[in-house]
Amino acid sequence: MIMKIYFAPLEGITGYIFRNAYNDIYGHVDKCFAPFISPSEKCPVTPRERKDLEPENNSGMHLVPQILTCKSNHFIEGAKELCAMGYKEVNLNLGCPSGTVCAKGKGAGFLPETLELQRFLDDIYSYSESDGMKISIKTRLGYFNPDEFYDLIDIFNAFPVSELIVHPRIRSDFYRGEPRKEYFAYALEHSKHPIVYNGNIFTCKDYEDYSKSFGCTLDPIMLGRGLISDPSLAGKLKGAESETDFVKFRNLHDTIYHGYQKVMSPDINVLYKMRELWSYWQSLFDGKEKDIKKLLKAKKYSEYEEIVYRILQT
Ligand SMILES: Cc1cc2nc3c(=O)[nH]c(=O)nc-3n(C[C@H](O)[C@H](O)[C@H](O)COP(=O)(O)O)c2cc1C
Repeated sequence: MIMKIYFAPLEGITGYIFRNAYNDIYGHVDKCFAPFISPSEKCPVTPRERKDLEPENNSGMHLVPQILTCKSNHFIEGAKELCAMGYKEVNLNLGCPSGTVCAKGKGAGFLPETLELQRFLDDIYSYSESDGMKISIKTRLGYFNPDEFYDLIDIFNAFPVSELIVHPRIRSDFYRGEPRKEYFAYALEHSKHPIVYNGNIFTCKDYEDYSKSFGCTLDPIMLGRGLISDPSLAGKLKGAESETDFVKFRNLHDTIYHGYQKVMSPDINVLYKMRELWSYWQSLFDGKEKDIKKLLKAKKYSEYEEIVYRILQT
């Protein structure tokens, strides 16, 4: 049976309100990775990012903050602040495929700049030794071509990477298509570091199929969209839950909904956040497509609640 499950960072979704609700109601997640922060010269951690990462807003969970940058001094300034907040691990984002991010040479946009990347890793791992901070990496296979991964593995092998989380896609794949399994198999064989699989695990069967195709029990794994779509997936993978429990689901929904209402206004802003969640949750509600379509258009709390509680009651 699988031992360790990590919650992937999903910007705009897995902020502290979602994480707390999820952790209190479902649990079974061993580490939660926070969506990236982008430290700048002036401000390593903005007040908004600080609020999201503040340990008192994340109690009872093992949270790992993530940094997105291609400048080692910015990374180090950010990591020092996180260290002062009590964090012992920080994750480097080498996977973000967004156009604006990659155009600045960050995320997946950093992967083809191998010389600069080595210099950057030299700097940040020298810092990590001095501060006792672990640095893990979340990476794609490459920017233009998955074969870039062979060199990247050699580069990562030269540094004390605490864990290497591999999302086996290239930048232009975004989050679509089949993960490129053969490259993940290469990482399993050639990386010196503990390897974590991430990508397209939506069901227990997906997990079994991936494990079978790699000829091993994938452990740890990182789950993103699969865990949002079916919040009981971690419990199911650990053998603690057998099917989706709609009382728990309603509790999750209400806790997140009321949590957003406390910190956001007007109604429509909260409803935008809920809409994004429902775009994942709709797969749990076969036959309710018409109601969900209406729900995605609701502009007032009263309208939204009338539809949601109709869906959740049946
Ligand atoms: C809406 C959205 C936001 C994301 N934000 C981040 C992020 O902040 N940092 C990161 O490393 N990956 C981010 N990702 C990628 C996920 O962490 C994960 O690698 C990806 O969804 C593949 O895993 P999955 O198939 O289990 O969802 C994001 C993905 C989505 C869809």
